[in-house]
Amino acid sequence: MDISRIYFSADEDYLSAAADELRPHFPDSFMEPVGPDLGAFEEEGVSIAVMARTIQEQHLVFPRHLMRGVGMAELEEAQDLAGLGDIALGLWEQFPLPGEVSLHVWQSGQVDLAYRTDQLWRRLATALADMDIEVKRGGAAHILSACVTEQGIVFGSNGAANALTDWPGGRVRLAKPKGQISRAEFKLEELFRTDAVTLPEGGKALDLGASPGGWSRILLERDFEVWAVDPGELDARLSNRQGLHHVETTAGPFLAENSERFDLVVNDMRMAPVLSASVMNSAAGHLAPDGLGIMTVKLQPSDPLRVVDETFRMLSRAWEIVFARQLHHNRNEITVVIRPVPAPSG
Ligand SMILES: C[S@@+](CC[C@H](N)C(=O)[O-])C[C@H]1O[C@@H](n2cnc3c(N)ncnc32)[C@H](O)[C@@H]1O
Repeated sequence: MDISRIYFSADEDYLSAAADELRPHFPDSFMEPVGPDLGAFEEEGVSIAVMARTIQEQHLVFPRHLMRGVGMAELEEAQDLAGLGDIALGLWEQFPLPGEVSLHVWQSGQVDLAYRTDQLWRRLATALADMDIEVKRGGAAHILSACVTEQGIVFGSNGAANALTDWPGGRVRLAKPKGQISRAEFKLEELFRTDAVTLPEGGKALDLGASPGGWSRILLERDFEVWAVDPGELDARLSNRQGLHHVETTAGPFLAENSERFDLVVNDMRMAPVLSASVMNSAAGHLAPDGLGIMTVKLQPSDPLRVVDETFRMLSRAWEIVFARQLHHNRNEITVVIRPVPAPSG
């Protein structure tokens, strides 16, 4: 019988939504929470590659990171940091170890251990280096992982292509950039790091719900001419910025009155999701050929799957989904990348 235990991470408030999203695709699976943002999944014959492909192709939004479990150290034996190198190697060596790995170490929940996760990372990195394995923080084709949970330390080993993201547990750490205007900027930067989106190289961008101007700032930095649409003010640091047009109105009137063609439409409006999707459908008519859309969809933890489903159905009138995920920097929302539905031929 071929059953591997696969661990999936999600936002703490959406872990059960992640399980609910997976269940219809894997009706015979067994799932249980093992930490506030970590779930375990088992189904005979389902590999991490199958699970990753399903999540990507079906645009499941809540599973954020995957790890194939190879074994566990109970909390009692895990207290001895010095001994953990041998335990980890014993588990990881069940599968061939490549010459270069990314080592991911993180923690799910409050766990009483005598050391910190950075000390655990160093201990495990030393054990791997002693085996002549090159250890990186990210970027290698294979990931070895250790996640500290209340039940013990869970060890993982899998190809980076199946992890959904190359960050421990999917927790992307981004340094605050110089001149940052809003924390919303992290959402766009994180999306660009996923490689899920190939941005048009410059051109005209429409930023719906732009105030105070974080996304507009990023798009200006990337050489877009930006129409920032929001009745709210833009940050003073953006005043007189070349290539920026602040249109102090709401999205509806702007789209009705403006005939500009945009290469990129972004939408971070604080708005009911289905309404926001219908605004994007109107914006699709303003898109240049090969244009792209990016939007956030605001959620409530109660019944998020229904909201996502209704929003995707509304978007499908004009767009197809390229990528959809609750990113680490999304609080009570998801980020969606869309491109216009191709016109019927003939
Ligand atoms: C989360 S903020 C956007 C933050 C922005 N992305 C940034 O990086 O600074 C949401 C914005 O949506 C705007 N908004 C809400 N409804 C709108 C509408 N109908 N048209 C334009 N903007 C709208 C609000 O005024 C608010 O400034």
